[in-house]
Amino acid sequence: MEVIIQPNAESAEELVVDFFAKTLLAKPDAVLGLATGRTMEGVYQHLVKRHHDGGLDFSHCRTFNLDEYVGLRADDPNSYRYFMQDRFFRHVNIDTSRTHLPDGMAKDLELECRHYEKLICENGGIDLLLLGIGLNGHLGFNEPFSEFDSRTRMTALTEVTKHQNALLFSNLEKIPRHAITMGVATILEARQCLLLATGNEKADIVAKAIAGPITTSVTASSLQCHPACTMVLDRAAASRLPESDCRSSKQFVQAK
Ligand code: GLP
Repeated sequence: MEVIIQPNAESAEELVVDFFAKTLLAKPDAVLGLATGRTMEGVYQHLVKRHHDGGLDFSHCRTFNLDEYVGLRADDPNSYRYFMQDRFFRHVNIDTSRTHLPDGMAKDLELECRHYEKLICENGGIDLLLLGIGLNGHLGFNEPFSEFDSRTRMTALTEVTKHQNALLFSNLEKIPRHAITMGVATILEARQCLLLATGNEKADIVAKAIAGPITTSVTASSLQCHPACTMVLDRAAASRLPESDCRSSKQFVQAK
């Protein structure tokens, strides 16, 4: 695992955009895995800017988002489909028919999960997967104690997650109780994983994920097993890392 610490959130977001640019330059039809959440807002702003100012081309790429709430329509401002359209897709030259999110309104949710998993496979798997991290260490909506061999499925949101995500809803009662998420195994199969965490509130869980034991109680610790995973942090999110431990066991990069 490579850990890159940037001076602030903006330079961390810029670095994530560099990873995307490099992937798309090498493979214009790359399969990108995408994430939502407040941490990602800046990433999408920078990606849009890089498209307009730097010509970053999304016309051939395909995308798969990590997750979607169950029971929200695509045009609901709280759905992740809406988030992606609003913050990213509508601002760049991406072909919307090649953008995928699980359908949280599907009649048969189990079938939808199997279909999503199959679609990722049929597209050749994910080349670069962007991840955030929940306050409880979740990846996507793989809440604590998700099995590391889990696949795309429906999960129940924990109280911690509901409170964390409440900021994007008008009130706590409106947060769906369930979501569809890529499984941990689906995530670990991506050829490259890129986790972005910024801000003080993520410092404790980031330290557990990177330097703690590999355990299902911290889903993100599963990334320690991934052969090509980069953690991009700002100084605040990196502030609880036991540097000596990390330096001895993992590649540790301090950006200028
Ligand atoms: C949601 C998403 C996760 C994301 C997390 C972090 O729960 N399902 O994929 O990592 O939010 O959110 P934030 O960036 O708002 O802290």
